[in-house]
Order: sequence, then C-alpha cells, then structure tokens
Amino acid sequence: MTDNTEQRKRSIGRVAGAITASGLLTVKSPNVRVEDGFIRSRFRYVTVNAVLDEEGNVVAIPTERFYRFKTKFQPRKLGLLQVGWGGNNGSTVTAAVVANQQGVSWETRDRVHLPNYNGSLTQAATLRVGFDDHGRDVFVPIKSVIPMAEPNNIVLGGWDISGFNLADAMDRAGVLEPDLRRKLRPHMETMKPLPAAFDRQFIAKNQVPRADNIIESQDKQVQLDQLRRDIRDFKEQNGLEFVVVVWTGNSERYAVESEGVNDTADNLLSSIKSSHQEVSPSTLYCVASILEGCPYVNGSPQNTFVPGAVELAKKHNVIISGDDFKSGQTKMKSVLADYLIGCGVKIKTMVTYNHLGNNDMYQLTDEVMWKPKSASKSRVIEDIVDSNGTLYKAGGDSPDHVVVVKYVPFLGDSKRDVSEYTSETFMDCHYTTIMHNECLDSALCSPLILDLAIFAELFSRVLYAVEDENGKVKEESFSSMESAMSVLGFYMKIPRTPPGEPIVNALGRQKSCIENLLRALVGLEPENNMLLETKCPFTQA
Ligand SMILES: NC(=O)c1ccc[n+]([C@@H]2O[C@H](COP(=O)([O-])OP(=O)(O)OC[C@H]3O[C@@H](n4cnc5c(N)ncnc54)[C@H](O)[C@@H]3O)[C@@H](O)[C@H]2O)c1
Repeated sequence: MTDNTEQRKRSIGRVAGAITASGLLTVKSPNVRVEDGFIRSRFRYVTVNAVLDEEGNVVAIPTERFYRFKTKFQPRKLGLLQVGWGGNNGSTVTAAVVANQQGVSWETRDRVHLPNYNGSLTQAATLRVGFDDHGRDVFVPIKSVIPMAEPNNIVLGGWDISGFNLADAMDRAGVLEPDLRRKLRPHMETMKPLPAAFDRQFIAKNQVPRADNIIESQDKQVQLDQLRRDIRDFKEQNGLEFVVVVWTGNSERYAVESEGVNDTADNLLSSIKSSHQEVSPSTLYCVASILEGCPYVNGSPQNTFVPGAVELAKKHNVIISGDDFKSGQTKMKSVLADYLIGCGVKIKTMVTYNHLGNNDMYQLTDEVMWKPKSASKSRVIEDIVDSNGTLYKAGGDSPDHVVVVKYVPFLGDSKRDVSEYTSETFMDCHYTTIMHNECLDSALCSPLILDLAIFAELFSRVLYAVEDENGKVKEESFSSMESAMSVLGFYMKIPRTPPGEPIVNALGRQKSCIENLLRALVGLEPENNMLLETKCPFTQA
C-alpha cells in the first residue's frame, strides 16, 4: 500500500483503491432511457461566448443548449475492408483478430503469450464512472459504456496490389512471432486480397514490382464500378449489415486540386468518368465507399479527400475520417508539447528522428511520396502553440521543428524514434528532454484500425437534435452527426474537421472529446475531474 492510499483511508474513512467492472454500464437518470431499440439521452451542453473588448479584456458569456441523442442500441454485424490488406498493418490486424477469435497462444523463449487487444482504446482502456459506496473509483472498459461491435466478430476483407495471401503477407511483414505465424497460417492462407485499383503515377516506382493483383482496366469509371461491386459482394457474402473501409495502403503523392476537376462532387464524378489523371486510386476507393454508404478512413497523409469527395460524403451522410494514423512519435509529440506548453514552458526546438526498415518506409524513400508525410508530421502542434499567446507571440515565434526519417532495412517493422525537445523555462533556463522509443510500427497502428472501424460503426448509429426554446424536439428533426468525423481526430495526425471547427491535436483534449461524447450518449455529464465531493464534502461534520 502506498503512502497515498494510507493517507486517503485516514482522511476520508474510505476504502482506498479502484475497481474496473467488466459488465455493461447502465445509467439510471431522468436524462436517459432505452426505448424502441434506441438509447435516448438528453444532454446539457454549455459553451462560452468569449467577447474581446478594445483593451484586450475578455467577457465570458456561458450559454447552454440541450441536445437529444438517439443511438440505435444494437451494433450491426460489421465488416472491415482494408485497402492494403496484404501490408504490414493489414496482415497484423487480421492475424490479431484471428488469434483472438480462435484463442491461439504462442511461445517465445521466455513464456507463453495469449492474444489480446492491448493498445486499443475501445478494448483495453477504461473510463471513470464515479465513486462506489466505499469510496473506490469505479472504472468501466470504454467498450462497456455503450454497445459497440466486438472485434472478434468483425469480418475482414480488402484489396491489395500484391496478390500474396494473408498468411504469406503476414510472413513477409515479419511483425509477429514465428510460432504464432505458424499456428495462424491455416486460418489465413485462404484469405486473398481482391484486385486493386492501381495507378503507378501515384505510388513510388519501388512498389511497382509488387503490383501483380490489379483491376485490369485502367478506365477509372470501370475501376470505381468494380470497387462498388466488391463492397456489395463482401456485404452480401458475409451477411453484413455495415461495412467500414480503411485505407492502410501506401502513401500516395498529392493529387492536384483544381477547379472543374475535383472541386465539387459532380466534377469529381465526371472526372472519374473521363479517367482524369488527377483522380488518385485512394479517391476512387473513397468515392466507392461513400456511394455504398460505408464510412471511409484515410490512414495516410495524401489528399484523398479532395473537396469533391468531402462534398460527396456530406451529401450522402457518410462518415469520413483522416488524415494519416497518429500512432507513434507524433502521438507522443501531441502529449509532450501539450504538457510542456500547458505548464508554461516554451518549447524552442523539437528535433525528431525515426528510422525503420518496413515497406512503407521503403516507399517513402521516394521524395515525391515523402512530401505529404513530411507535411503531416510537421503540423501536429500548431494548435498547442496557438493556445498560448503568452509564450508565443503571433507570427514567426513557433518552435524550430525538424523531422528526419530514414530507411534502415535491417530493422524491418521495428521503429526507433529519438526526439529532443529544448525549451526555455523559468528565467529562460534551458530544459532539455530526450526520448527514445522502440516499437513495431504495425503493433502501434493495428489497434487504431480496429478502433476506427468500431467507432465509425457506433457514430453512424447516432442521431441528434437540439431542443427548441420550449424544451421540445420534433422526431423528424433528428439527423446524423457531421460527416467529417472530427471526434476520431484522436487517431489522426491531421484531423479532418467539419467547416468552422478548429483542429485539435492535443491528445488529452482529443481523448476527453471521445469520452465525453460517449458519456453524453448515455446521459452522463462530462467528466470534470473536480472530485468536489471530497474537496468540499456535501455534508460537513
Ligand atoms: N504506425 C504505422 O504503421 C503507421 C502510422 C501512420 C500511418 N501509416 C500509414 O499506413 C499505411 C500502411 O502502412 P504499412 O506499414 O502497413 O505499409 P505496407 O507497405 O506494409 O502496406 C501497404 C500495402 O498497401 C498496398 N497498396 C499500395 N497501393 C495500393 C492500392 N492502390 N490499392 C490497394 N493496395 C495498395 C501495398 O501493396 C501494401 O501491401 C502507410 O501509408 C503508412 O504511411 C502507418
């Protein structure tokens, strides 16, 4: 027992500690009820209108709105189609799901391992509900807050330009232990990626040799129609109610955005019809998904979501989420920068290196393909810097930010990152932080892909309405959330937001957005972390 727990016992006469419950969370409150297959909740949302006067003073005017949420209770039978299924991420996601489904254990020289979903927010993280009668903190797994699809029940499929079956792809990736791969082989060798939409103009030359599994026609309309058929067939053959498509293919080069080509939904569709050279394969997958009513997640930095694709998603009420998975160094940056700047420490330089030797990194040795990745890695702390005008004066006062990435084949998927942050703290004294991380790149990313599919399914079950001044809502006024699903920004280097919404990169803010939205859906107030019941007890002796 720590001093802290001893002290807590003495001071408040409570049993110290915390428990994590394993069952579903039920909220007993007038703000929530389950009716006709929906969870209906009422949620008081307070925003603050901050008015600046000429002397720089701020007047804060809180305003409240009452939201009603209506969430279909039952998750639908979910399918996940990965673009780049035969890559390191695609094969690792698949191996993990199969291992968990089949309960496949494996041995390394020190012990026997059991499959799990660690690293997944939905499956392995918890949310604090409150105190129990003994004063213990009670947590529930995030997946227990509201019914969500189970990863073990997700049906997997996908496309890849390489025709390797999933067992061979898993071996090629070299991410998982040999004993596990041997045991999974019989389950995975029958899984074969569908032929891919491919355009060698959008990918590094060094990837072309693996492109032996592509849709024959170069006509983009034919490719789009084929991708749509693939989605429909996958749904039908597996009896699925809902499908999410995730791009985990290689980073493409940027598509040129121009008027008349991809600036509107109609122009984009016409450009596909005429096989315009600036329609990328990833945009084709995205358009196919939207037209089939399937959320589309862009795990790479390229501009798949050209304005026409964004408009199309909104028109069809389909969730889109991107860009570029935030899995390793960038995630750490969005924590560390938030911590330092949030504590009033002025970061002056952020110099970060990473090196590894997987296929993705090989492809990024191509300068043109590196450009979008470099941009997405560099922009990740802008909002955190902007949030502190006391430390950083407007214009040109941002930290020097250097990002170096190197391809080191021997290391395979094992990513090493070294970061040095030099800051100025009290009286300009220097404060230097140096960090070294090592992890398999795909072990960082795979749980994110599963979470994104699970959350996309959940948030597409959510409808909302805002009460009128009499506290009433009309049933027909319920609508879907904005299609640009910024609540999933937690998973993204450059979170895609609806028009007018500022980008938030700080990981803590992003996580509390997800948690508080989940709480709102089940009629709980946002977590305020005040613990007032102990600081200022309700009944004083
Ligand atoms: N930690 C991470 O792993 C991480 C983090 C952020 C972003 N990403 C992004 O995720 C993507 C996948 O990473 P990975 O390590 O699995 O890469 P990978 O190279 O192992 O896999 C990518 C797969 O995509 C396939 N592919 C390429 N173009 C395709 C197309 N047009 N259609 C279908 N398949 C296509 C390739 O054949 C390959 O199998 C990369 O773009 C990477 O930048 C990964």
